[in-house]
Amino acid sequence: MTADFDTVDYFTDQTLVPDPHPYFDHLRSKCPVVREPNYGVLAITGYDEANTVLKDTDTFSSCIAVAGPFPPLPFTPEGDDITAQINEHRSLMPMFEHMVTMDPPDHTNARSLLNRLLTPSRLKENEEFMWRLADDCLDDFVAQGKCEFLSAYAKPFSLLVIANLLGVPSEDYDEFRAVLGSPRPGAQVGSLDGELVGLNPLEWLDDKFVGYLEDRRATPRDDVLTALATAKYPDGSTPPVLEVARSATFLFAAGQETTTKLLSASIKVLGDRPDIQDALRRDRSRIPVFVEESLRMDAPVKSQFRLSKKNTHLGDIDVPAGTTLMVCPGAVNRDPERFENPHEFSLDRKNVREHIAFGRGVHSCPGGPLARVEGRVSMERILDRMADITIDEDKHGPAGDRSYNYEPTFILRGLTEINIRFTPAG
Ligand code: HEM
Repeated sequence: MTADFDTVDYFTDQTLVPDPHPYFDHLRSKCPVVREPNYGVLAITGYDEANTVLKDTDTFSSCIAVAGPFPPLPFTPEGDDITAQINEHRSLMPMFEHMVTMDPPDHTNARSLLNRLLTPSRLKENEEFMWRLADDCLDDFVAQGKCEFLSAYAKPFSLLVIANLLGVPSEDYDEFRAVLGSPRPGAQVGSLDGELVGLNPLEWLDDKFVGYLEDRRATPRDDVLTALATAKYPDGSTPPVLEVARSATFLFAAGQETTTKLLSASIKVLGDRPDIQDALRRDRSRIPVFVEESLRMDAPVKSQFRLSKKNTHLGDIDVPAGTTLMVCPGAVNRDPERFENPHEFSLDRKNVREHIAFGRGVHSCPGGPLARVEGRVSMERILDRMADITIDEDKHGPAGDRSYNYEPTFILRGLTEINIRFTPAG
């Protein structure tokens, strides 16, 4: 049954999950900034308006970045400027300990710790690890000629890339796979069934990293964890160990599921579009654009949230202090004012890198370069080792009548499973 787009509840209605784009197009056709009727959230589907909001941290706070209107604000906004109210109540808001919900200057400090980690030499070592890891993951199943791609490849690959980036000892990889490899379905921020996770779903990881970092502060070694443990804030002070641990653990939350979604969306295109698969096999230099276009077409983060701190305007729309804004990268990346034939997957799109799948402004994704390399390395090795990739028709139906299931969340866009067949090669 098709929902009535003027009244539908985007935050709970399952019918918008398989394909949110007709709804996003409907919103944009009314106005690139439009108030949805159920929670009074301002939905932003226009490219320019999204950039304005994401870049202006003086006016728009990230304190509700991860879950938007849920739970409701722990205070009633009062007056023209609610900055002080936000600051008083931060510790009651989801994921307040993590940089994604912080505003400058706290955000600047938290993010500076990441710079210690995402250095060119560390990223290079991490890329070398990725090439080996891709083959290790493929070795486990490629001879079978078929797989469920998320569990066989995308999840373990993206998890272990981050574990390696952070210097997790390789003897602990199996434990990480066991604990983080299969999150409880539904128990995630943004789930449509309204189940609220605790304020911080990353506690296991926080404890684990506090352990690593305390050990390295007591007994420094020549390793990545020691570099993290001894990182300083820009003013030269030493951060509490828990702060450093949180910068590290948030990378799992931010980087694992999102990259899994990018990889699975990409493999779906290879299976559904033999013409594109052939084009990539003929000319591997087109892989980076393929990865960008996958990000544009199926942005893994389909909505991100901000709270207006002050009375302001967006275009002609009045935005009172305390308004929840929902920037929809999934929609913005298909704004026809910016992207020609926006619903078409094209390897020839000149401005493809203008998509906002990695956000914009001070919070824009620090893992973007890494995710791009993960996409490139994976596609290279997959094309080398799997010939004739097709979608498994027993599971998803024949071409032209496929069925795919997507995760029931209002924040992320990702397949729950994708079954493929192929001829082992290489
Ligand atoms: C395809 C993969 C990915 C996508 C689509 C993605 C998307 C995003 C987006 C849209 C944001 C901005 C959130 C906001 O402004 O509210 C973000 C932030 C972030 N991402 Fe990613 N991300 C991906 C992969 C990664 C990876 C691999 C890592 C880490 C290794 C990572 C770490 C982070 C962190 C730490 C933040 C918070 C930054 C801040 O608040 O300053 N992401 N990501």
